[in-house]
Amino acid sequence: MTTSPREVYYELCLRLLGPYRTTELTGAQLCEIGEVVYGAPERFSLYGVAAPAMAATGLRVLGRTAAECCADIMATAVADTVADLHGPPGEHDRPLVAELFCGSGNLSLHLGRRLGVPVHAAELDPLVHRATSHNLALMGAATRLELIDYRELLPRLPARGPRDTYIVEPPWGPAISPDGLDLLGTSPPVPEILADILRARDGRPCLVGIKTIDRILHDSLNAAFAGARHLRTIANERAFPDGARMQFHFYGIGHG
Ligand SMILES: C[S@@+](CC[C@H](N)C(=O)[O-])C[C@H]1O[C@@H](n2cnc3c(N)ncnc32)[C@H](O)[C@@H]1O
Repeated sequence: MTTSPREVYYELCLRLLGPYRTTELTGAQLCEIGEVVYGAPERFSLYGVAAPAMAATGLRVLGRTAAECCADIMATAVADTVADLHGPPGEHDRPLVAELFCGSGNLSLHLGRRLGVPVHAAELDPLVHRATSHNLALMGAATRLELIDYRELLPRLPARGPRDTYIVEPPWGPAISPDGLDLLGTSPPVPEILADILRARDGRPCLVGIKTIDRILHDSLNAAFAGARHLRTIANERAFPDGARMQFHFYGIGHG
């Protein structure tokens, strides 16, 4: 019996999020992810390093992080989009940039480099935090990563202005299925995270970036961002083996 690319992809995701969840992946396993998920080993790249070179560079990537991460192709596009939304850098008003669910920290590295600001980041899983701290130090990232719940980090980051930007990428868990992604079922649900952000800044306006796939269930993206201003959506050109395409959306939330 032949196995379809979709089945191989789902099996790999289950392995990465299950038995290999907290395992540091070998070079061969990282290349397998490149092959299965992105179509070629070198297409899976993090921190500017392609999978075939990751292990030799000394990067440590856990199974769960490899499955959940935003690889370079999207992370660089996100950084370019945020730079565009921010406009020219002001001399005295450097916006706050925070990645609330850090994972690999790849977004924070590219955002920090592109915007020239240190990105604040929260990561709750001690094993992910350890591997990511190592990787970010190795790559010379200026990310200020803390082993902390994002809800504890938020009140410590005073609002600076309307260009303050929060990257929101909570674990999907059971919210993702072959049918699509339910943003009201992530952990925590996206509306709760947006409320936490606004509470921490007394409702002052800011920007939010969020990763999804293009199969969104129950109109949950619109429901989560009801009342927000949609600014931009970008998408990976290449679909995953199950036909879903990664997207990143940017919204303005809060009241001026
Ligand atoms: C989907 S991944 C983030 C992927 C990340 N954007 C990347 O490019 O690698 C979610 C991460 O958030 C962490 N996390 C889950 N709940 C959290 C919380 N309450 N506060 C901070 N981090 C949390 C998880 O441990 C996991 O590493």
